[in-house]
Amino acid sequence: MENMSIRRALESDISDIVEIENCSFEVPWPDFLFKAHLSNPGFLVYEEDKVLGYAIVASSEDKRTAHLQSIAVHRDHRRQGIASKLLEWCIDLVRLYGFNRMTLEVREKNVSAQLFYSNNGFVVEGKVDGYYLDDNAIVMGKDI
Ligand SMILES: CC(C)(COP(=O)(O)OP(=O)(O)OC[C@H]1O[C@@H](n2cnc3c(N)ncnc32)[C@H](O)[C@@H]1OP(=O)(O)O)[C@@H](O)C(=O)NCCC(=O)NCCS
Repeated sequence: MENMSIRRALESDISDIVEIENCSFEVPWPDFLFKAHLSNPGFLVYEEDKVLGYAIVASSEDKRTAHLQSIAVHRDHRRQGIASKLLEWCIDLVRLYGFNRMTLEVREKNVSAQLFYSNNGFVVEGKVDGYYLDDNAIVMGKDI
């Protein structure tokens, strides 16, 4: 983590982000969806020699709750605290914008991500059956 930085995502990061995405999700987002998020200041990347992780946080409808839309770390660089650092930065960022809660949905089958969120202070607040085409969603939240 010596030469690491966390910063806003740029168009030139998209190919690294898509590589992370493709090794992280069965139904990865295509590059145009990431490009559409470049105008969001809550689209952050974690970089060492290259981009190893990304997170996207946005506003929910009530404008008080921030919504973590996605977070992923390259498969070869997991369990090194990278996602925790990205999440910490997302939380610090949205606090500056006046948000005091963060929520997210995670696939019911994605137990490792649920453990990651629990380890970072999120608690289960509900479940939405059929939220994904092929899975239910667990809703988790945290006061920030
Ligand atoms: C979930 C994910 C983002 C975690 O990234 P990471 O950089 O490996 O996470 P961290 O190193 O910050 O983990 C922090 C803690 O979370 C928990 N955790 C993380 N991954 C875990 C796993 N696979 N199994 C169990 N606990 C896990 C651990 O408590 C870990 O602390 P430890 O390593 O000291 O035990 C990563 O596994 C990933 O990209 N998964 C695929 C994409 C995904 O599922 N994203 C979430 C969609 S909702």
